[in-house]
Amino acid sequence: MATVLVTGGTGFVGSHLVPRLIELGYQVRVLTRQATRGRALPAERCTIIEGSPLDPDACRRASRETDAIIHLVGILTENRQSSYREAHVQATRHLLAAAKENGVRRWLHMSALGSRPYAPSRYHQTKWTAEELVRSSDLHWTIFRPSVIYGKGDRFLTVLRNLFSQSFFRYFGMLPLPGGGASLLQPVAVRDVVTAFTRALILPETIGKEYLLCGPDRVSLSEICFLLLQREHQTVCRTPSSARLCSRLLLFAMLFAFFPLSALAAFAGSSSPEEWSILLAAWGGLSLLSLRSRPVLFLPIPWSVTLGLARFAEKLPSSLPIGREPLLMLEEGNIGDSSVAARAFGLKFLPFHDGLASLFPDAQASLPLPESSAGKEDRAERL
Ligand SMILES: NC(=O)c1ccc[n+]([C@@H]2O[C@H](COP(=O)([O-])OP(=O)(O)OC[C@H]3O[C@@H](n4cnc5c(N)ncnc54)[C@H](OP(=O)(O)O)[C@@H]3O)[C@@H](O)[C@H]2O)c1
Repeated sequence: MATVLVTGGTGFVGSHLVPRLIELGYQVRVLTRQATRGRALPAERCTIIEGSPLDPDACRRASRETDAIIHLVGILTENRQSSYREAHVQATRHLLAAAKENGVRRWLHMSALGSRPYAPSRYHQTKWTAEELVRSSDLHWTIFRPSVIYGKGDRFLTVLRNLFSQSFFRYFGMLPLPGGGASLLQPVAVRDVVTAFTRALILPETIGKEYLLCGPDRVSLSEICFLLLQREHQTVCRTPSSARLCSRLLLFAMLFAFFPLSALAAFAGSSSPEEWSILLAAWGGLSLLSLRSRPVLFLPIPWSVTLGLARFAEKLPSSLPIGREPLLMLEEGNIGDSSVAARAFGLKFLPFHDGLASLFPDAQASLPLPESSAGKEDRAERL
C-alpha cells in the first residue's frame, strides 16, 4: 500500500485530508513540530513524525520510504516564531531536497489563489517563490491554488460566526467592513479540496499541472457576513443611511464617553447629588435603550483607514488575529475559474449556500444567494 507524507497534516485542511487518505487505504505519515498536535488524527495507519520542515534532518527522516509528499505547510500571518519566507520557501526547499535524496517522485503542492511574483502581499509572493522551487524540481509535481477554504474547523467562517455570537458584538450592533465589504471571494469547501488532492494521487495526467480550486459562487465579504448573521437570527441593515449610522455612533459615544465623563466632572466639581443623579439616570436609560434588539448595521470603513489601523495594531504587544497581510489579500479579492480542475478531477464544486447549511445546520434562514452554476442536485455532504 502506498505511503504518503503529509506536512501540515495537523492543520485545518490536513485534519480533513489525513482521515480521507487513511479511508482510501494509504499509509500516512504526518510531519509535525509538536507530536501532541497529531493526537486528533486517527492513530490507525497514521505515523506521527516529530520535527520541523525547517530542519533538513527531520525532512529526511519523514520522507524516507514514502511514495508521495503532500506539502500543506503554510501560515496566514507572520509571528515572532515564523516568517512567510521560512514557512513557505525554506520549508519547501528542505522538503524538496529530502524528497530528492530519498527518491520520492510524487509531490502535491498547496499554494494559494493569487500567488504571483509582484502580488501586494508577501504571503502571495512567497507562495509564488515556493511554487517556482517546485516547478524547477524534477519531481512529478501538481500545484493547487485554492481560494479561501471553509469547512469544520476553518478559520474563516467559524471565526466570523464566533465573533457574531459574542455578547459585545450583539450589544454594539455594528459591523465595520473594510472597503464596505465589497471584496469578492469564491469560497471552496474543504471536502472538494480534499477530493482534488486524493484524485491527483491516482491521475498521472495531472503531473506538471497547476489547478485553481474555487467554489461555484462569487460572494462579497458583506454577503458572507449577512448570511452568517441571518443564521444567528439577527436582523441586518446592509446599507444604513448616514443619519442612522450617526445616531447609533452618537448613542455609543454618549454611553461610553459623555455621561461617565460628565458624571465625573459633576462629582469633582461637588455638584449637588440631584444633578449627577439625573446624569446617572439618563446614562442608565440610554444603556437600557441600547440593549433593545436592533438590526446590525454594516459600517463601511475605507481601505486606507483599515490598513492604517492594522499597521498600528501590529506594533502593539498583543497583535490582533487578523493582520495587514491578510487584509491586503482581502482588498484585491480572491476569485478565479476552476473549470479546469472540475474537469480534471471530475469535481462538482459545492455551492456556497449548501456548504453553509451543512456547516451550520441549526439555521432556518432561507439563503438568498444566486443560483450556483453547479446546479441544485449537488447536495451538501457533511463538511
Ligand atoms: N485555509 C485556507 O483558507 C487556505 C486557502 C488557500 C491556501 N491555503 C493553504 O493551505 C495550507 C493549509 O492551510 P490550513 O488552513 O490547513 O493551515 P493551518 O490550519 O494553519 O495548518 C498549517 C499547518 O502548517 C504547519 N505549520 C505552520 N507554521 C509552520 C511553520 N512555521 N513551520 C512549519 N510548519 C508550520 C502546522 O503544523 P504543525 O504545527 O503540526 O507543525 C499546521 O498544522 C497552507 O499552506 C495555506 O497557506 C489555505
